[in-house]
Amino acid sequence: MSSVSKIVIGPRQNPVEKLGTPLSPSATRVMLLGAGELGKEVIIALQRLGVETIAVDRYADAPGMQVAHRAHVVTMTDGAALRAIIERERPHLVVPEIEAIATGMLLEIEREGLAEVIPTARAAQLTMNREGIRRLAAEELGLPTSPYAFADSLLALQAAIEDGQGGGIGYPCLVKPTMSSSGKGQSLLRGPGDVATAWDYAMQGGRVSQCRVIVEGFIDFDYEITLLTVRAVGADGVVESTIKTHFCEPIGHRQVGGDYVESWQPQIMRAAALSRSQEIALAVTDSLGGRGIFGVELFVKGDQVWFSEVSPRPHDTGLVTLATQRFSEFELHARAILGLPVDVALRLPGASAVIYGGMDARGIAFEGVAEALNVPQTDLRLFGKPESFGKRRMGVAVATGANTDEARARATLAASKVKPVSA
Ligand SMILES: Nc1ncnc2c1ncn2[C@@H]1O[C@H](COP(=O)(O)OP(=O)(O)OP(=O)(O)O)[C@@H](O)[C@H]1O
Ligand SMILES: [Mg+2]
Repeated sequence: MSSVSKIVIGPRQNPVEKLGTPLSPSATRVMLLGAGELGKEVIIALQRLGVETIAVDRYADAPGMQVAHRAHVVTMTDGAALRAIIERERPHLVVPEIEAIATGMLLEIEREGLAEVIPTARAAQLTMNREGIRRLAAEELGLPTSPYAFADSLLALQAAIEDGQGGGIGYPCLVKPTMSSSGKGQSLLRGPGDVATAWDYAMQGGRVSQCRVIVEGFIDFDYEITLLTVRAVGADGVVESTIKTHFCEPIGHRQVGGDYVESWQPQIMRAAALSRSQEIALAVTDSLGGRGIFGVELFVKGDQVWFSEVSPRPHDTGLVTLATQRFSEFELHARAILGLPVDVALRLPGASAVIYGGMDARGIAFEGVAEALNVPQTDLRLFGKPESFGKRRMGVAVATGANTDEARARATLAASKVKPVSA
């Protein structure tokens, strides 16, 4: 399952030519912007290839900082601060792991050739804002999405939903801040009485002080997937000239309040829906360009597929690949960004289940780890986040099984055995 999508790649997209020795002048240096649980796994994968790693996040002792060669606490939305740390560390590759970054500065850094931005600075910029990626997908690429509109005020939002001529989005619909993730500030609206509350909630949940929301028509999908899509050099011996697009097996997932609680792989799909999903993922990732893994989020109903959004980086629902694939999404990302060939094969059906903090406290502990690991074919990641919140993702259980039902039962059981306690 792969297709050649680009024959020529520009000078900035030359893969790292050789790998050096960390902490020596020959070192290959990679800087992660954002060092949460996903960045931590990418750093571990890079460490295994002898890459020198630099973790950056906005708070001390972030998960990825605990496994990197060096760590820096930086406000990444501050362009000058971002530039200063890149000038000081001189990484070959800069790898965004989160959305809240001064992407205008990433564009400058890329343009000046100071570092290569993964996958591209434009991809980071377009995807940090729901408006950028939605307009690209729907208006430029002509891909199917939910009906949508943007609004900068409560009045404009009401008009966008209720437009008398039948041109409005209508109910049910979803309102989301244009700059937010993990379901923050999102609400489902069932009627006119919900609009004002949704507007207020979005204004509290937005990431940057920006009063803009997207309103989307509700898609009554059968299921939703993440299609992990990897842009990497060809594995056919012709390394430097071609980028190939590789598709992992689709990941099914369940979201509660806009945040993922459980995922499994493979999600069984009808052939037509799978090939349509791959077409959509190919169109979006071709347009964003560069090398690396992308999490393409899609809604599926029968043979019909809608594009929802895309992360130009590993995806949280893809934590399941730590158990299921020969190479996890993190290892695939590490290889792809270094210009190395990838192998997206599935090893076994599997599942992941999230472990939440359940309390607001610093330095919590976890009981029941042995009980969790007693569940057959199960593994755990405890991320080591210094501070817990009730709904903060603190760990994940992953499991394999004869099929995804068995794996889901195991992962969920294992996750339920892990009990966060205050120390
Ligand atoms: N238009 C829609 N119709 C139906 N369900 C939707 C729609 N938009 C979002 N959802 C549901 O809400 C979830 C979260 O939405 P979305 O992915 O846009 O938010 P997010 O904050 O970016 O979440 P994350 O960062 O966890 O991916 C989706 O995975 C889906 O389950
Ligand atoms: Mg999403």
